[in-house]
Amino acid sequence: MSLPPSSRCRFTDDLTICRILNGMWQVSGAHGAIEPDRAVEEMFVYHAAGFTTWDLADHYGPAEDFIGDFRRLFAARHGAERLSEIQAFTKWVPHPGRMTRRIVEEAIGVSLKRMGVERLDLLQFHWWDYSDESYLEALDHLAELQHEGKIHHLALTNFDTERLRVIAEHGVPIVSNQVQYSLVDRRPEARMAVFCGEHRVTLLAYGTLLGGLLSEKYLGRPEPPRAELNTASLQKYKRMIDAWGGWALFQQLLAVLKQIADKHRVSIANVGVRYVLDRPAVAGVIVGARLSVAQHIADNARVFGFELDNADHAAIEPVLAKSRDLMTLIGDCGDEYR
Ligand SMILES: NC(=O)c1ccc[n+]([C@@H]2O[C@H](COP(=O)([O-])OP(=O)(O)OC[C@H]3O[C@@H](n4cnc5c(N)ncnc54)[C@H](OP(=O)(O)O)[C@@H]3O)[C@@H](O)[C@H]2O)c1
Repeated sequence: MSLPPSSRCRFTDDLTICRILNGMWQVSGAHGAIEPDRAVEEMFVYHAAGFTTWDLADHYGPAEDFIGDFRRLFAARHGAERLSEIQAFTKWVPHPGRMTRRIVEEAIGVSLKRMGVERLDLLQFHWWDYSDESYLEALDHLAELQHEGKIHHLALTNFDTERLRVIAEHGVPIVSNQVQYSLVDRRPEARMAVFCGEHRVTLLAYGTLLGGLLSEKYLGRPEPPRAELNTASLQKYKRMIDAWGGWALFQQLLAVLKQIADKHRVSIANVGVRYVLDRPAVAGVIVGARLSVAQHIADNARVFGFELDNADHAAIEPVLAKSRDLMTLIGDCGDEYR
């Protein structure tokens, strides 16, 4: 199997990615036990299929170490010259507090070492508390490290539109912001997408499959009790569905998506990913991969083989129109963390 050229996008002038990124929060331990050797071996299967781009973080358990192991094995099997085929996007999620050059440099140093790279392809920065403006100080230090060659591109995660503007005015160049974006959570469309279009910032979407709830597995099913939701991801997005409109409305959405999926001979998950990939400013959708536990490579490849038409959108919109406005309820992107 190989993915068509449409599976790739020019993320920056010098970096091309797969538009479905493999999400590694799922190896953190909060989604079931992972077998490290099998997990790293499975990374070769994703890569060979064309899913060459990984999303991870300093706090996703062994994720950064898995990238390091994968790269070492990959170089041994295929030659170090082919390592440039792999894109690994990590995050730095610091504890609140002062952001000195030493603190920032040490944190980046740990990621470089764990991932076995001399330069991070993309560093996505998270910040918990906007009332503490030392995030600008942290970004200044990150920009210095970028100039020194330790970071290729700088990015953000879970920042709202207002702070994207503050950061742009502060003068630190950012290439992307990673935010929750799905049929259920369309907040990025409210303000952020316009800002991104004007400032050459793209969006990387997560939560698009609602931890797996957006699939045939939950179609026609009664509301699952909390005990049945056995990954951190399922619990997180079930809460989002509750806020959005509840299980009955979600079932209406799944039913409509199933009809669309059948028409195109794809899956509900495919329709959900395609929908977000086609939204303005979206560069890629991150789909969580429970390496060594569950695998959806062949199904997710189908996302690149069909288009949603006007009739599909016309069927989806009336269901979404019945939902609550998450911008009013929660706030802009990332406000659920603050
Ligand atoms: N920046 C942030 O704050 C943040 C927050 C959350 C996530 N993320 C990133 O986004 C990634 C995605 O995580 P997420 O929590 O949002 O989960 P998600 O991608 O919405 O859901 C992942 C789950 O969906 C299921 N799935 C995948 N492909 C499928 C298919 N074709 N058909 C049916 N089910 C399918 C799998 O469930 P099974 O394994 O049960 O089969 C998988 O574990 C994370 O790994 C992380 O990289 C970032």
